[in-house]
Amino acid sequence: MSQVGGKAFDFKLFLKVMAYAKPYRSLFIFSVILTVVLGALGTARPILIRSVIDDAILQVNAPELVRLMILLVGLLVAEALGQFGFMYAANWLGQSIIKDIRIELYDRLQTFKLGFYDRTPIGQLVTRVVSDIETISQIFSQGILVIFGDLFRIAVMLGAMFFFFNPVLVLVSLSVIPILFIATRWFQRGIKGAFQQVRTEVSNLNTFVQEHLSGMAIVQAFGREQQEMDKFMKINDRHRQANIKSIFYYALFFPIIEVLSAMSIGLAVWYGGMNAATGGSVTIGELTAIIIFIGMLFRPLRQLADRFNTLQMGMVASERVLKLLNNHEDIEANGMKIIQDLQGEISFQNVHFSYNKDEPILRDVSFEVAKGETVAIVGATGAGKSTIISALMGFYPYSEGSITIDGVELKDIDVHALRQQVALVLQDVFLFSDSVRSNVVLGDQHITDEQLLKAAETIGIAEFIDELPGGLDYNVQERGGVLSAGQRQLLAFLRAYITQPKVLILDEATSSIDSHTEELIQRALMALTKDRTSVIIAHRLSTIQHADRIIVLDKGQIVEVGSHQVLLEKEGAYFNLYEKQFASEA
Ligand SMILES: Nc1ncnc2c1ncn2[C@@H]1O[C@H](COP(=O)(O)OP(=O)(O)OP(=O)(O)O)[C@@H](O)[C@H]1O
Ligand SMILES: [Mg+2]
Repeated sequence: MSQVGGKAFDFKLFLKVMAYAKPYRSLFIFSVILTVVLGALGTARPILIRSVIDDAILQVNAPELVRLMILLVGLLVAEALGQFGFMYAANWLGQSIIKDIRIELYDRLQTFKLGFYDRTPIGQLVTRVVSDIETISQIFSQGILVIFGDLFRIAVMLGAMFFFFNPVLVLVSLSVIPILFIATRWFQRGIKGAFQQVRTEVSNLNTFVQEHLSGMAIVQAFGREQQEMDKFMKINDRHRQANIKSIFYYALFFPIIEVLSAMSIGLAVWYGGMNAATGGSVTIGELTAIIIFIGMLFRPLRQLADRFNTLQMGMVASERVLKLLNNHEDIEANGMKIIQDLQGEISFQNVHFSYNKDEPILRDVSFEVAKGETVAIVGATGAGKSTIISALMGFYPYSEGSITIDGVELKDIDVHALRQQVALVLQDVFLFSDSVRSNVVLGDQHITDEQLLKAAETIGIAEFIDELPGGLDYNVQERGGVLSAGQRQLLAFLRAYITQPKVLILDEATSSIDSHTEELIQRALMALTKDRTSVIIAHRLSTIQHADRIIVLDKGQIVEVGSHQVLLEKEGAYFNLYEKQFASEA
């Protein structure tokens, strides 16, 4: 039995993959019928040729020759058409199936909770969605159907040979087949190991190149080009070794097959000639037909090892992809209650939170935000400010206590409906490699350029957008790399404002920004928070002096609450933060 990654051929897995062919059942059946027809047509050809020689040429029967030749040409044309149909259908099937699987997989990935993405390297997921799925298509285009077709053809040909020809002649000429099987098995094992090594090295190459291109600034800044180059050369060396190893098996296997096939023909000629010379029943036509059959038998036999490997690699890829598709643990939990008209009353009561067990991040956090209020959260880096937002948005589950929105427990709320009424500006703004316009509207076709520019005017960033080459058409590069952190956040403000949300949640960028951008941000904030419930995490305390309330967080606990004036007069934690910032800016 064949092996998949060390264990026996996984038939259950195979059935699961085959289930994806269900919508294309008729195409699948059509392909199977075609392979059967092709097997029969291929077998008929040498038998016809025997008749041409024995019944027409040697009998000098011209009309019979013409008849047989017409039949032969018809057969060839039918075979060619059949082959075209089969190749087209099999690949159509493979591509259709992987399109379905890929869409299903991406859809599933969108439902996973963020904790899953903290644990899983993105590169690995990209490999699953792109190249692993591509490998699955080969199960259909080059694997299962072709293997079935080849085995069927081999069986029909062997049957026909024994039926139509002298059985001893057939047995003698095919006596090398056991050696062929041994050679094939050896080749299959060797090539499988080599292929796995190649795949590992390709994956290493991918990871290295991806990481080092992203981190080029670090490599150059620390002058590590040479060291990194050495590492890269080592990986390339191993990649080359692995490929050369696979070539070694091919280079040796194919000549062996050639020799075996020549031996087989030699045996046929030897036995057939001896038989004919001693007055036996073997005819010239029969001998010719056998020689053609031997050629036709060896071709699929030679390829079978390769095809089994393709099938196995497809199975390995399927296993990985199906594992993701069947991962139900990581699907984001969601409540049923839909809050239609969000008021924006937020309440945290004794909330405890941790990303990983036994590592408490928020401890006994309680606070309330009334409708229309602006509440600011401040505190040292790592205090848990962004974590409060993650909990509030339902990105991660809280372990103890209660978070309610408009009086409804967050765990019972349908978060998708909720998030549509909330605008979130993250600390680290992510921009897609697209135009400013697309990044702001995020697929909402109803927002016109006019509305966009007017909104930009209202929050005071029209000038900034105007100054970008091309304005709204300006393409921010991948990851928004060409805009500064402050500029990216300005675009995120516009993104938030344009949706006219009921609730605004804002996590101010940590990176230092120039005083001009800071002024822009302050002005935009005034417009953004006006008449709506807002929770604002501020790093620059100048931003939040107008907040209704300021919550000071320290190591996951609330230590002070009050307005800017009250907290300053208290000369406590907030006062210290304020002093520190003032000192560093002065
Ligand atoms: N996804 C995560 N998985 C595990 N731990 C995390 C995760 N995100 C944050 N943490 C940890 O939680 C703690 C609080 O982080 P958080 O991002 O809430 O701090 P913060 O107050 O927003 O800091 P900053 O001012 O630097 O933005 C930190 O110790 C951090 O290491
Ligand atoms: Mg933060």
